Amino acid sequence: MATLYSGRFSIEPDAEVFGHGRSLPVDRRLIEDDITGSVAWARALARAGVLSEADAHAIVGGLEAIRLAVRGTPSLIIDATDEDVHSFVERELVARLGDTGKRLHTGRSRNEQVSVDFRLYLLRRIPVVQQALAGLIEALLHQAELAGRAVMPSYTHLRRAQPVLVAHVCLSHASAFRRDIERFDTARAEADAMPLGSGAIAGTAYDIDVDWLAETLGFSRVVANSIDASGDRDFVATFLYACAMAMVHISRLAEDVIILSSEEFGFFEIHDSVATGSSLMPQKKNPDPLELVRGKAGKAIGTLTGWLTTLKGLPLGYNKDLQEDKALAFDAEDSLIGCASVTATAVRTLTLRPDVARQAASGLLLATEVADYLVGRGLPFRTAHEVSGRISRELYAAGRDFSSLSLEDWQRYHEAFDAGIFRAITPEAAVEARLTPQSTNPAQVARALAAMREWLAARELEVRSTK
Ligand code: ARG
Repeated sequence: MATLYSGRFSIEPDAEVFGHGRSLPVDRRLIEDDITGSVAWARALARAGVLSEADAHAIVGGLEAIRLAVRGTPSLIIDATDEDVHSFVERELVARLGDTGKRLHTGRSRNEQVSVDFRLYLLRRIPVVQQALAGLIEALLHQAELAGRAVMPSYTHLRRAQPVLVAHVCLSHASAFRRDIERFDTARAEADAMPLGSGAIAGTAYDIDVDWLAETLGFSRVVANSIDASGDRDFVATFLYACAMAMVHISRLAEDVIILSSEEFGFFEIHDSVATGSSLMPQKKNPDPLELVRGKAGKAIGTLTGWLTTLKGLPLGYNKDLQEDKALAFDAEDSLIGCASVTATAVRTLTLRPDVARQAASGLLLATEVADYLVGRGLPFRTAHEVSGRISRELYAAGRDFSSLSLEDWQRYHEAFDAGIFRAITPEAAVEARLTPQSTNPAQVARALAAMREWLAARELEVRSTK
């Protein structure tokens, strides 16, 4: 296989070593972006007077013909033996145009070419990743709406804390995914810098209008320094971080669903279509798909760590180590989109068991309500906490809860208790008593749900209008 640099060598590269450095099986995914970048480069060369209009016209036509040929017959690139996607395109172009095709690479390096390709790729793929996360939010909002005013316990230290609306829990996970979507906006903004004109490292010797190139390719700015640009893959690290963070959130959601649908909790039932069975134990219904999501989150974190480790020792400028970025990023992207989609299905098909959840949200976790009740009757909070703590301790030891106390019992603990206490110690009263906008108060949760829906709809409109 002829390389782009065969003139320098009198012999063929060692076959195994060449295979070791070959990236076409991975970077062929950049074919559309590589062609888009080359089309713009050919035009920029013509604008600079380096290429004749006729040559530029032929090259653009040839590149678009390659684009269509690969779209129609993917095996063309899948079966190709070229070193990388750039070599593939150039060989195809020369095969079509002869010497004219050989003029395309004037003033350009693969170092900047791969950077522009990958940046273009991320600019168009990040919205797809965000769409997958939006699907997850959608599923959570659906569950929040189905749950209505149903209550469940919230947990700190995985011990029952206070009653909350099931919808509040759904919105809690949705809030994290909203941050993830916004984090991907940041990742996209970082990828949004046009590197062409950097040459291999020192810049290009031709009078290329880089602002025109940026605008033509849909970038909002041009990189500031050619050396930095040739070795800068920070935008890949930022993308991998956004992927890892989102995977961590999906993993935590998966974990919640796994725990809360277990026999021990039983607040939710996962749908049979997202469960697996056991080859040995006939009764089993396992949440394998969600466990796998949790497992893949570990890999996403490893991918980010691995990439940062690759970067940390590199001398300035381009180094071949950087080629590893694409395999990592493509895998992180595929994994995230797949996990978001599967988890959305698992969430959308959950069935709430409101009675079980409410039962668990009753009892001693209402101790804060007891304390707040005494505060309402004029006691200092620390004293009220002491009283409620003592009642809780004694009831716990006796295996009972607040509902077993008569008014006389209450008043034996403190004379400030009156019959109003019976209305205060239900899960419904507890959620109603929370007042702040971010709280589990049903009116606030309804407002938060509507706000999340509005945000999602506004984003979708925005995405559609930029397409
Ligand atoms: N395949 C390379 C990469 O992904 C493209 C740049 C190659 N440049 C070079 N001088 N070998 O980073």
